[in-house]
Formats: sequence, structure tokens, C-alpha cells
Amino acid sequence: MQPVGTIKQDWLVQNIFICATKYDCMLKLHNKIAIVTGAGSGIGKAVALLFAQQGAKVFVADLNPENADATTNEIITSGGTAESRVLDVANQQAVTDTFNAIGPIDILVTCAGISHIGNAANTTEADFDKVYNVNVKGTYNCLHVAVPIMKKNGGGSIVNISSIAAKVGLADRFAYSMSKGAVYAMTLSVAKDYVNDHIRCNCVSPARVHTPFVDGFLAKNYPGKEQEMFEKLSKTQPIGRMGQPVEIAGLILYLCSDEASFLTGSDYAIDGGFVTLNS
Ligand SMILES: NC(=O)c1ccc[n+]([C@@H]2O[C@H](COP(=O)([O-])OP(=O)(O)OC[C@H]3O[C@@H](n4cnc5c(N)ncnc54)[C@H](O)[C@@H]3O)[C@@H](O)[C@H]2O)c1
Repeated sequence: MQPVGTIKQDWLVQNIFICATKYDCMLKLHNKIAIVTGAGSGIGKAVALLFAQQGAKVFVADLNPENADATTNEIITSGGTAESRVLDVANQQAVTDTFNAIGPIDILVTCAGISHIGNAANTTEADFDKVYNVNVKGTYNCLHVAVPIMKKNGGGSIVNISSIAAKVGLADRFAYSMSKGAVYAMTLSVAKDYVNDHIRCNCVSPARVHTPFVDGFLAKNYPGKEQEMFEKLSKTQPIGRMGQPVEIAGLILYLCSDEASFLTGSDYAIDGGFVTLNS
């Protein structure tokens, strides 16, 4: 058996794909239009690739044009359908123009997000505003514009990315935890307000997932000690490793699929046991 600590992304992609194709009609997104924010990297990229593989037309929205195009090109090369949209989710006008130009939207996944290290005393107002603007206001902007489009279209499915930081006290994550708590609360609010409009809204709360987000965080905050900190952070998950983006994407695929039609207003920890098994 493959040890959980050395699990490989390729192996996971292959197995999620085999699983989905084995049950041929399951977890398919044919004829669905999906917008994935932050799809130029990490979790958003894995979501975009998996959604396209399952038949969705994916709008790859990201602040970084090169990364957005790289994801789009990877999808098209594999036979999928995708278009890039350069988008700053913190800019409401830009989100409005981009989403309205796309037209009907079946699925929205809000992965765009930034990290921050600091406590209440040393988090500057500028940093607090920056985290708020991307993680909170950015998610609000996407919900604010997408929900009326989905309502007009007869429904839809939304998945937001919260974090374990919304539920447990993590050291030095003051602004980041604030932002992810807000994402969780917005998820519940939208789920409640639009349940009769056939809009399902859920969120997922990962622990540490190995993405450029984590690499950038380690390089910025622990220069010269990246490997040591990587191993330390990996061990904070009882499963003994960080998650892989495709593992988060698999859960998001399920939540956005018709198979999850009874699910709304839920938050899913996907954390290698971090929240429940660490005592
Ligand atoms: N990686 C983890 O350990 C982890 C754990 C819990 C939650 N999350 C959350 O998952 C989400 C994705 O994280 P990731 O690890 O894939 O990060 P990542 O850095 O690999 O990708 C984030 C993407 O968002 C884009 N982005 C940043 N600001 C943006 C903006 N204003 N407008 C549009 N795009 C913007 C970036 O260009 C990047 O492509 C984030 O919300 C993060 O908070 C990550």
C-alpha cells in the first residue's frame, strides 16, 4: 500500500479520474459553465483542470495573466474547454463586467486568496485591509454578482474556500483567520437566502495544502529554513503530510456536481485530521 505521507499528485489525479469514469454518469459537469477564481495556481488550478476533465466549460479567472493562460492552455491541450479572464476579485466593477459578459453561470468556485502572518498587535492597517479586500471583499464581490445571474438562470452551485483557520486558534493568523471566518459566514448566509432559488452554497476548509501559496509563505516568513518549516508544518496534520491540490479539487467537484443536490450550507474540513485528531 502506498504510504499516505508519500502520496503522489499524479496517482491521485489518475485515481480520481478512474473513479469518475468508472461510474460513467457520476460527477459529470457536461453543459455546465464554471467560473473558478484564483485558477492560475494551486487549488484553483486543480479545480479548473478537474472540472474541464469532467466536461465543464471553465472560465479561468486570475489576477496573474500568465498563470491564467497556462491553466487555460493546459485544459485546451487536454481536449477541454476553457477561457482565461484576467480579474482582480477585489475590484467590484471588474467582477461585474467579467461575470456579466460571461452570461449564465452554473458553478462558481472562489479560490482567489492571499495569506498573511501576524497577530492583533503587529498586523498593520494596510495589511489588514489587503487581506480583507482580497479574501473577504473579493469573495463578496463574486457572490454579489454571481448570485443574481444564477437566480435568473434557475439555480447553481457555489463553493467558497474557507480554512481551518476559521475554526481553531492558529498562532499569528489574525487577519487571515478573520478573513476565512467571514468566508464561512458568507457561505451560510447565501445558502440560507437562496435555498428556494435552487442555489446551493457550501465551503471547504482545508488545512495545509502544498501549493505555491505555502511555498511563498515559507520563503517570505522563514528564509533559509523553508525545508525545516515545511516538514514541521506537514507533521501538524495527523495524517503526516500536507494535502495535494487535487484532493481538495475532488471534494469541490463532488459539491458542485448534481450528486450533491441535497447539500447546502455545509462546511467541509479537508485537513488530514487536523481539527478532530490533534488532541
Ligand atoms: N494552501 C493552503 O494550505 C490553504 C489552506 C486553506 C485554505 N487555502 C485557501 O485556498 C485558496 C487557494 O489557495 P492556494 O493555496 O491554491 O493559493 P495559490 O497562491 O497557489 O493560488 C491563489 C491564486 O489566487 C490568485 N489571486 C490572488 N489575489 C487575487 C485577486 N485579487 N484576484 C484574483 N486572483 C487573485 C493568485 O494569482 C493565485 O493564482 C485561498 O483562498 C487560500 O486562502 C489554502
